[in-house]
Amino acid sequence: MEVTFLGHAAVSITTKSHTILIDPFLTGNALASVRADEVKADAILVTHGHSDHLGDTVAIAKRTGALVVACAELAGWLKQQGVSVHAMHLGGSHEFPFGWVKFTLAFHGAGIDTPQGTVYGGNPVGILFRSDGKTIYHAGDTALFSDMRLIGQRHLLDLAMLPIGDNYTMGPDDALYAAELLAPKAVMPMHYDTFELIHQDAHAFVEQVRAKGIQAYEVKPGESVEI
Ligand code: NI
Ligand code: MN
Repeated sequence: MEVTFLGHAAVSITTKSHTILIDPFLTGNALASVRADEVKADAILVTHGHSDHLGDTVAIAKRTGALVVACAELAGWLKQQGVSVHAMHLGGSHEFPFGWVKFTLAFHGAGIDTPQGTVYGGNPVGILFRSDGKTIYHAGDTALFSDMRLIGQRHLLDLAMLPIGDNYTMGPDDALYAAELLAPKAVMPMHYDTFELIHQDAHAFVEQVRAKGIQAYEVKPGESVEI
């Protein structure tokens, strides 16, 4: 499985047979490594309705026909926008043709940013995704919470993508602690440097994670890791 960082919290996962996007915020994302009108997608997984995560989901889904998987409240809104959706909720998992998805807790807001204002969006989620025998965890936007240990105990994680930007989410110190709780094989930092308020030293973070005995990748937008 190949995981390509698209900038901010956006990633593209290439399995043997499918391309899955998570949080495709590309238009307006200064770090985006691909345009919304060219990115491939068979499915789109969305952690919450904030514009830096929902991003170009509607446009990409309409262009590609990708199925959008989201928390029930957000999925309901997306359905109204004319895209095909699959609603899930916290703790639930489902086997799709493109892989297995489970929604985990995330501690954050979940309002949907629309031109008409903020719409109720249910809960924010973290995402577990498994395909080709590999499991990845995309934490979404979240605070540190001790049940991350439970996620790591229940699921052997080949890669954990963790926000390190601080201010809106965990900062590097809490993300380092999260890495210890989750005990993944590898960590990839995300949700940093997109704008000044969340500027962080990802290289230093990666070095600190490695010092804990966990592999870590500093992945630039457009770069990939093979897991
Ligand atoms: Ni957010
Ligand atoms: Mn965010």
